[in-house]
Amino acid sequence: MELQILITLLLFLLLVLFPIFFLFRGKKYPDGLPPGSLGLPLIGQSFDLLKALKADKVDKWFQEGITKHGPIWKASLFGYPTVVLHGPAANKFIYTCDGNILTNTQPPSISRILGSKNIIELAGHDHKRVRAALTSFLKLEVLKQYVAKVDEEIQHHLQTHWHGRHEVQVQPLIKTLTFNVICSLLFGIERGLKRDKLLPHFQHMIEGVLAIPINLPFTQFNRGIIARTKLVPMLIDIIREKREALQEQKQANPRDKDLITSLISIHDDDGSPMMSDEEIIDNIIVVMVAGYDTTSVLLTFLVKLLANNESVYSAIVSEQQEIAKSKALGEALAWEDLTKMKYSWRVASEMLRINTPVALSFRRAMQDIEYGGFIIPKGWQVLLSSSMTHMNNDIFQNPTLFDPTRFEKHSLQPPPFSFVAFGAGPRMCPGIELAKMETLAMIHRLVTQFTWELLKEDECFVRNPMPEFNQGLLVRITPIKATFMSSKVSL
Ligand code: HEM
Ligand SMILES: *[C@@H]1O[C@H](CO)[C@@H](O)[C@H](O)[C@H]1NC(C)=O
Repeated sequence: MELQILITLLLFLLLVLFPIFFLFRGKKYPDGLPPGSLGLPLIGQSFDLLKALKADKVDKWFQEGITKHGPIWKASLFGYPTVVLHGPAANKFIYTCDGNILTNTQPPSISRILGSKNIIELAGHDHKRVRAALTSFLKLEVLKQYVAKVDEEIQHHLQTHWHGRHEVQVQPLIKTLTFNVICSLLFGIERGLKRDKLLPHFQHMIEGVLAIPINLPFTQFNRGIIARTKLVPMLIDIIREKREALQEQKQANPRDKDLITSLISIHDDDGSPMMSDEEIIDNIIVVMVAGYDTTSVLLTFLVKLLANNESVYSAIVSEQQEIAKSKALGEALAWEDLTKMKYSWRVASEMLRINTPVALSFRRAMQDIEYGGFIIPKGWQVLLSSSMTHMNNDIFQNPTLFDPTRFEKHSLQPPPFSFVAFGAGPRMCPGIELAKMETLAMIHRLVTQFTWELLKEDECFVRNPMPEFNQGLLVRITPIKATFMSSKVSL
């Protein structure tokens, strides 16, 4: 295994980094660059950052850079000279900057898997248009109607994978759940063979996106590319079926609508389709990639927290039981129920602050930029770390302390651009309401149906770059008997 990694890295250097190195070699940068070192040609400090990431110490790694060089500094990361920024003002600059100055361009390897028309890659008018199409379904007013559907998926999940077991691996199970919720709600693909066929392809694609981009047989990256070529025809079929169903007016009932149907039916003012099929495909893919691991990471950390923290656990249980009491046995959750889960969402927000799923965001300078008295040359990367802001003692006092009261209405709310787990500005996560719905509904069902304890005391995780628990977060679960629940409720 180690050897394989070594060989992969060597190949990576040969095939990817050195060609880029020769492109950059001899290039003169303007005066006024931030302090710091670009380190070894091209490799720079990439391995240091990856190591810090793995150990979940990126905020410390960034802090060291700041101590050494000052608040704005440069490094060489993942093949590009990079300026590292942090703090609310820098976050505001990066998140709200004009797309002609800073773009969201990802390395070409990523668009090979996610497609060149995916929203992350788009800028300016195209980004606005595709984003409007996506949010036409993902916005709260629309999603609200689907709480019962998400809840049904959760109940089925618990019935299939949790009830009747004594021990479960939480993280892989919850990934199955978030995959299924996206399939059902966003793709309109119900349980069955078709869904099962999609799963491995998506998994390979996600692994490919996160892998070192060497396209040789048997590399993770190569597997990701192959998965895309297999997935695209399946998605083309799905789009065709939905278009036929629309034409036959089979879907007169808006309750049967899903994101794909919505993307097919959305039209410009002049009546032409707002998105091409190619755009629909790339954005279906990106929604799955962006929405599946992130939400499952949050839920997994919450399951761990509730096993470890008695005071948070009992406060959540009492909030959730209050809601359970108001429902008939077996009645589905509705939007109104979620609005009552205020404490639970504060706990989730605090979890997103401390264990933020997306720890790094990269942008690319499209022109020389002056920022904070320094020059960021055209073509350089700009790196923002949300963990860095989330762990800043000046913004979140005692930052390592788990304290959901930070998000209380009447408490000193975090200032703008300091809680950035979902990003901010025109590219802020459009899946936030869905993530919230899934998280709250799952917490409700979990704490009202089970109690659990960790099997490995304080099981650790590494970031690859998403947090992964060493044993998938092993817990022992005990079902709460319905009679026990109702006797508790009647107390
Ligand atoms: C707890 C769960 C989630 C977290 C923490 C999260 C976090 C983020 C962050 C930080 C960004 C902005 C990245 C940047 O600006 O560099 C983002 C963008 C995005 N997220 Fe999420 N996300 C979550 C769930 C979801 C879900 C469920 C979906 C699917 C509907 C989704 C779809 C997207 C998309 C499409 C973008 C790109 C938006 C754009 O470029 O305009 N996310 N997310
Ligand atoms: C549990 O959460 C409470 C409330 O946020 C916090 O004060 C306490 O330090 C936490 N306890 C542990 C063991 O993490």
